Amino acid sequence: MSFFIFKMDFEKIALCVFLIILCAQDCVCLRNVSLESPRYVQKGESAVLICHYDLQGATLYSVKWYRGQREFYRYCPSESPATKIFPFPGINVDLSQSNESQVVLHDVGFNLSGNLSCEVTAEAPPVFLNSVVSTHMAVHQIPDRGPVVHTNQQHYKTGDVLSANCTSPPSRPPATLSFLLNNNPVGTPETRVHPSDDQLQWSSLSLNLMLLPSHFVNGHLVLKCTAVIASIYRDTAEVQLTSRGKEPVPERVTSPSKASTSGRFALPAVILHLGLIIRAAR
Ligand SMILES: *[C@@H]1O[C@H](CO)[C@@H](O)[C@H](O)[C@H]1NC(C)=O
Ligand SMILES: *[C@@H]1O[C@H](CO)[C@@H](O)[C@H](O)[C@H]1NC(C)=O
Ligand SMILES: *[C@@H]1O[C@H](CO)[C@@H](O)[C@H](O)[C@H]1NC(C)=O
Ligand SMILES: *[C@@H]1O[C@H](CO)[C@@H](O)[C@H](O)[C@H]1NC(C)=O
Ligand SMILES: *[C@@H]1O[C@H](CO)[C@@H](O)[C@H](O)[C@H]1NC(C)=O
Repeated sequence: MSFFIFKMDFEKIALCVFLIILCAQDCVCLRNVSLESPRYVQKGESAVLICHYDLQGATLYSVKWYRGQREFYRYCPSESPATKIFPFPGINVDLSQSNESQVVLHDVGFNLSGNLSCEVTAEAPPVFLNSVVSTHMAVHQIPDRGPVVHTNQQHYKTGDVLSANCTSPPSRPPATLSFLLNNNPVGTPETRVHPSDDQLQWSSLSLNLMLLPSHFVNGHLVLKCTAVIASIYRDTAEVQLTSRGKEPVPERVTSPSKASTSGRFALPAVILHLGLIIRAAR
């Protein structure tokens, strides 16, 4: 009787030991599963997605690729053919370049943007091991031309209002615009976006700035508009504006003829006078 109980215990212990070994094996069999993909891809171009994994002696059962919840490519060596495509608009798998570790997509569409996952399943009889890794990829389209700046005049003097607008052609996502006057930020950073065809948007930004003497550098104004899309696109348009007549040096602005022409000169004239006083005081 006691022997029977011991035998029972021995069997239980043996089973436990077996399970522990199995569990330990479980933990070492499928390692380092990771997904390598570009963060951004230009619409119409190709993308190579690589699923890295370390089977640690187990047998590969399948590698499944998903966009969101939808499977679009599967590699299963026990099936013939081993590769399988699940059609999804905007996802064009190149079978000739896809295998157990990578999938190549051609002519990517905006639809592809989102969560991409690779699920690896391995067999280490009697168990299956499974691991899923995900990453985010965005399909973008940069503008086909740089930004364009229009100004209301070519020549300016202190006290004039510089009115400008900057536009960037359709893109996705839309470009963010900003103005720099002699390399100093000016205006409000309120880019407006407007719908366009093909799920694209174009951008515009307006500027209305009363010109102060401090805006001029040696009588020159260089107005730049920069269009930026995340870290993938940056382009600048530049216009060279000249001061009307001579540069706004104090002698000129404080001359009686100029000072009497317009009330708009009151503020710049005061600033320039202060400048002269400070200079005189030194
Ligand atoms: C797996 O990952 C570990 C830790 O990240 C690393 O030390 C090891 O070298 C990796 N093994 C392989 C085969 O890449
Ligand atoms: C991405 O998709 C996988 C599989 O459907 C899911 O497990 C994961 O939570 C998703 N990740 C995000 C950030 O949505
Ligand atoms: C994907 O894009 C295609 C056109 O490129 C469109 O016909 C389809 O409806 C889109 N599908 C989804 C799920 O957005
Ligand atoms: C998968 O295909 C790519 C490109 O053809 C190749 O570089 C890579 O070695 C292949 N991977 C395996 C595991 O065969
Ligand atoms: C931008 O400025 C130009 C010239 O001043 C003008 O013709 C155009 O209508 C303006 N565009 C917008 C969107 O304000």
